[in-house]
This record gives sequence, structure tokens and C-alpha cells, in this order.
Amino acid sequence: DQLGVVAVGFSGGQCKPGVDAAPSALIKNGLLKQLRDELDYKLFHDDTVHSYKELIPASDPDYRGMKNPLAVSAVTRKISEQVYSQAKEGRCVLTLGGDHSIAIGTISGTAKAIRERLGREIAVIWVDAHTDINTPEASDSGNIHGMPVSFLSGLAKESREDIFGWLKEEHMISLKKLVYIGLRDVDRPEKKTLRDHGIKAFSMHDIDRHGIGKVMDMALAHIGTDTPIHLSFDVDALDPMWAPSTGTPVRGGLTLREGDFIAECVHETGCLIAMDLVEVNPTLDSGLNDIGAHETVRAGCSLVRCGLGESLL
Ligand code: ARG
Ligand code: MN
Ligand code: MN
Ligand code: MN
Repeated sequence: DQLGVVAVGFSGGQCKPGVDAAPSALIKNGLLKQLRDELDYKLFHDDTVHSYKELIPASDPDYRGMKNPLAVSAVTRKISEQVYSQAKEGRCVLTLGGDHSIAIGTISGTAKAIRERLGREIAVIWVDAHTDINTPEASDSGNIHGMPVSFLSGLAKESREDIFGWLKEEHMISLKKLVYIGLRDVDRPEKKTLRDHGIKAFSMHDIDRHGIGKVMDMALAHIGTDTPIHLSFDVDALDPMWAPSTGTPVRGGLTLREGDFIAECVHETGCLIAMDLVEVNPTLDSGLNDIGAHETVRAGCSLVRCGLGESLL
């Protein structure tokens, strides 16, 4: 099979440097080689980790409380084109982030390509400790990595072309086709949004109650068979025991196996059209000798291999 790869070394959706180093760390750990040699993908990759330096303005003042609005808008607009041009060829697209703001680019790119190719709306499975559905006004942090779903769904609107106004109808997703898994740190206004729009969400509580097998059955049943699926996987969905090197770790998360299982189940549907792996920050290391960073990179590689079809037997 063909696999498009986009490596995004971008950290402007939040304030901690280092998440831009993730693609290189994942690739150095052998991820793309494994996808090519062991999973037999034909890779379409420009062998570049993009930093989009040319798109980042010298001055980028806060706007509606958002930090780095011009940079994040310009970079995600470019990512959207990169992902679109792969997806329109009918390839599955793997994007290695970068912080989660990059999903504004990846998901808008696949949404547009699938509309054009198949006349279909995509479903999104968002695996995360967080919902990332704050509007600019509701966000406490101003970090855009906490807002991508609000822009992608049209909950947040902005007419300025240079601050996400480039997002058109064709780029958008339906909140009815969105499913969250792994939630445990959701802000007050985000909880209200989940309720008001009846968004399907499986928290860690639900996983404790039903087990991950049942939760995946329910999550996929909500989407329905034969719907193209974009899997956006934030490594902070995993418990910090498995993935400590991330900008906003929250205890009480998924085990490594539960994370891999989620990715495997999505692969098994045969409907995966794109996967993002985001928020690995190899420079944030609690343990001695980079153990935490190395473990987090390894976990990230494993999630991607599972999503792309590495089977146990
Ligand atoms: N809800 C918090 C915020 O709006 C945290 C978001 C964390 N997002 C992430 N992609 N790790 O800032
Ligand atoms: Mn998160
Ligand atoms: Mn919070
Ligand atoms: Mn996230």
C-alpha cells in the first residue's frame, strides 16, 4: 500500500520548546524504515522535517487571546495543502507532529480530499487526555493546541484569512462524526460544549467501567461501517508512566497496550485514511539518561505501527 508521510517540526501551538524535535526522534528510532521494510508500505515522503521557518512572522501578537496566531494559521494552512495533496491520490497519510495544533492542517486536508474523491464526510477519532475544543475566548492558556477541534468544526469562527479564515466549508468536520477516547482533563467550557452538542466521548472512567474492548466497539459503532476515519493520536492519552515526555501530562491514563489496541482496532476497520501522532517532546525528560524521552518515542512508534497494521500474529 501507499503511505504519504508528512513530518512536522512545529511547536507554536503551545509554549514548551522541543515538541518540534519529535519527527526526527521517531524517524531515528526506525519508524519509517519499519513501515517500509516490515509493513511493506511504499512511502511518499520528501525526506524533510518541515520547520516552516519561512512562514513564521517576526511579530505575532496575541489575537482574541490566542498565542502565535499568525504562525499557527500559516503553518497549518501549509500542512493542510501537504496532507490534501497526498490524500487526493488515495493514499493513507501519516503526519508526525509537532503539537496538536497541527491537526487543524491534517484534518482539514483529509476532509477536503475525501469530499472531492468520495463525496463523503470523514469521521475523526481523537485519542487524548484533553478535548482540545476550546474556543479562543474560553481558553485559559491561549495555546492553540487546546483549540483545533473548535476551528475544525466551526465552533470557533474567524473571518481574518491570515488567522484561520482560510478554513472553508470543505475543510470542516461534523461534531456528530467525532469520537473522543481517553479523556481525563477537560476544561469547564469544553464539558459544556460536549453536552450541548451531544459529542460522543469515552473518558478514562468509561474505559475503567467497560474495558477498552467494549469502548472500541461502541466508538466504532457510533461512526458506522464504511466511513473514512482520521485518527488523531495525542501521546498524552497514554499514562505518563509510558509517555512521560509530553508538554501536558495527566496521570491516570491509558496503558501502552490500551493505546496500541485502540490503534489496532481502527486499523482493523479498513477505513483508516490518516493518522496523526502528536505531542511527543523528547526534550522534556523527567528520568535519568533520557529514559523518559526514549520510552515516549518508542511508545509513539508502537502506536503508529499498530495503526498502520502491525498485527500481533
Ligand atoms: N485544555 C488545556 C488548554 O486549553 C490543555 C490543552 C492540552 N492540549 C494538548 N494538545 N496537549 O490549554
Ligand atoms: Mn492532550
Ligand atoms: Mn485543564
Ligand atoms: Mn491534544
